[in-house]
Amino acid sequence: MLSGVKPTGEPHIGNYFGAMRQFVLLQDKYKGFVFVANYHALTNNPTKEELLSNSKNVIATYLAIGLDPKQTTLFLQSDVPEVTELMAIFNNLITMPYLMRAHAYKDAAAKNKELNVGTFEYPVLMAADILLYGADVVPVGQDQKQHVEYARDIAEKFNYVYGETFKLPEPYILDDVKTVVGTDGRKMSKSYNNTIPLFAEYEEIKKAVMSIPTDSKGVDEEKDPEVCNVFALHKLFSEDSLPLLEERYRNGGIGYKESKEILVENIEKFIAPLREKRKEIIVDDDFIMQTLKDGREVAQKIAREKMIEVREKVGLITT
Ligand code: ADP
Ligand code: TRP
Repeated sequence: MLSGVKPTGEPHIGNYFGAMRQFVLLQDKYKGFVFVANYHALTNNPTKEELLSNSKNVIATYLAIGLDPKQTTLFLQSDVPEVTELMAIFNNLITMPYLMRAHAYKDAAAKNKELNVGTFEYPVLMAADILLYGADVVPVGQDQKQHVEYARDIAEKFNYVYGETFKLPEPYILDDVKTVVGTDGRKMSKSYNNTIPLFAEYEEIKKAVMSIPTDSKGVDEEKDPEVCNVFALHKLFSEDSLPLLEERYRNGGIGYKESKEILVENIEKFIAPLREKRKEIIVDDDFIMQTLKDGREVAQKIAREKMIEVREKVGLITT
């Protein structure tokens, strides 16, 4: 199992339910590799300080949500620069029109005509991440599905040209959390400013939830829970009381204000222990650095061996 998260800001509950929780759930079943995608974050041109502190934050997040460094290899993408060599080789197997068909590229190009080459190359680097370590399953949110398909295509192309070398990875996407909605009803995303941060303080949770737009139905009116963004979040945080909430929505008897207040308390109950854990870890620099060093050792060994095989197959002489 392999996956990564970009160090681009505060992780949010969309990242958690859509992807990161699955890293933890799968760690007993698979040998896991979970990294901080810091090369990928460069596409946003962060400052050095931003990149360093966000990278530490992602590692602290992995540890706080329950990834066990004894079971799962946790590492920095940039500690294994072989991945960029593999990307350089893959670059010659795919075409520009093929990359131009990627949804993420099309969205970015629509917003910015002066797109950097790193953004264009994003799926190739991601394919190198996935294939270098021989991943079978890649837990991600729905928005990354196409990128995993690109990795499969690239593996097939390489295997066809140079002989069987790479395994074909499968995305691992859970249907009910494939796209967690944000406070404005769109996909929750750091770039839309509609997130509930995974380690939000109580007041921050309250502010985010209270800002969710609803229709103007009164307390006694019947409401369809399936079109309510507050209810969509209850599905993640209010499991025990969900049937009762649904009944009160459908029959009338609950107002949006009360529904939001219940949601705030349930999110707080869920977040509080994670928030405390993250606070303990983020100040423990030694633990973070040791975890990264241990992970680096394991990841480098696999990557170096794989790249010897790749160079031989391609005909790049190793002296
Ligand atoms: P963002 O879109 O906020 O920048 P990232 O690109 O860092 O998030 O995503 C990290 C992981 O979280 C990816 O696997 C991505 O698919 C998943 N993810 C991000 N947002 C959501 C969401 N709203 N619902 C489900 N999964 C998500
Ligand atoms: N592109 C992923 C995201 O936006 C991060 C990522 C980089 C990744 N390399 C990966 C995810 C390899 C899974 C596998 O969140």
